[in-house]
Amino acid sequence: MSLPQIREEHLKEIVKSDKYPDPFADIAVDVGIGLTSKPKMLNPKYFYDENGSRLFDEITRLPEYYPTRTETKILARESERLIAKYKPMAIFELGSGSATKTNMILKPMKKMGLLKEIGLLDFNEEFLIESVANFQNRYPGVRIRSVVGDFSKELLFDSFNHSPTLYLILGSTIGNMSFRESIKFLKRVAEKMHPSDYFLLGTDLIKDEKILYDAYNDSQGVTAEFNKNILKVINGKLGADFNLEYFAHEAIYNSSDNRIEMYLISNSDQKVFIKDLNLEIEIERGEKICTELSRKYDRQKVEAMLETAGMEIIEWMTDEDSLYALSLSKLI
Ligand code: AVJ
Repeated sequence: MSLPQIREEHLKEIVKSDKYPDPFADIAVDVGIGLTSKPKMLNPKYFYDENGSRLFDEITRLPEYYPTRTETKILARESERLIAKYKPMAIFELGSGSATKTNMILKPMKKMGLLKEIGLLDFNEEFLIESVANFQNRYPGVRIRSVVGDFSKELLFDSFNHSPTLYLILGSTIGNMSFRESIKFLKRVAEKMHPSDYFLLGTDLIKDEKILYDAYNDSQGVTAEFNKNILKVINGKLGADFNLEYFAHEAIYNSSDNRIEMYLISNSDQKVFIKDLNLEIEIERGEKICTELSRKYDRQKVEAMLETAGMEIIEWMTDEDSLYALSLSKLI
């Protein structure tokens, strides 16, 4: 991968984002609690080390994984209209990842002479450095602020002076949060917002179960590899001795709770030692470790979630098959 040149002051800005703790700062405690709970569970944010982020990027291009493609299609159709209508001067993206979709919003902002500031927050430092370098080249003179961090915690960045600012969280990332967690998170976003700001949210929709199932059980096994990567992360960060071959990937659709549930199933009785925790974990044959919940929504659910957090939807945008939705909201 060839990186475009990055200007010194921005590199410093990324690296010294010292207000934010290292995204992996809590991994010892989280894994210790998660693997001694019944049922065992792991926080899906720990998928995303460099390898996991790369695997997720690969997932987004799989034929079965419709969310990214569909969200991109809706954005391609709607972004110019939205920018012309609501005229944001700054954007702040939470969980920007490889920031491909961000560009679809930045382009019309630049074209209409609106773009003043860009804010990016992501778990993955490599992606962030790349995005910043990329945007510096494409949007010279625009101030870029970037934070390596975990947005499921407190939002420690300052709001922009430019309003309207458009806050965004795309990719149905919010689907990993429980209803309560998502309300807490959305309230924190709402606290950052001025009355003239906007919030763009991507949410995956409830649909035919076969389509959902296939999206998380792809034929090339990339999702399985992504799922097992969380064990690799724990091995690397905490000196554990998980053997990835002793686990199988499972993703099922829970239709009463409207969510995909992802598990790693142990294929034997085994013991795992986590050196940094001085902890031995016993895992039975057939026992499941829950690694991810991915919630699916309908319009009422999205509306209820936003409303509880003090926002109202002003634009609801879906594709022709109603696979996925983008909603634009403002403070009530
Ligand atoms: C990044 C949480 C939106 O739930 O679809 C993809 C993660 N996990 N395949 C999702 C994921 C397995 C993804 N999110």
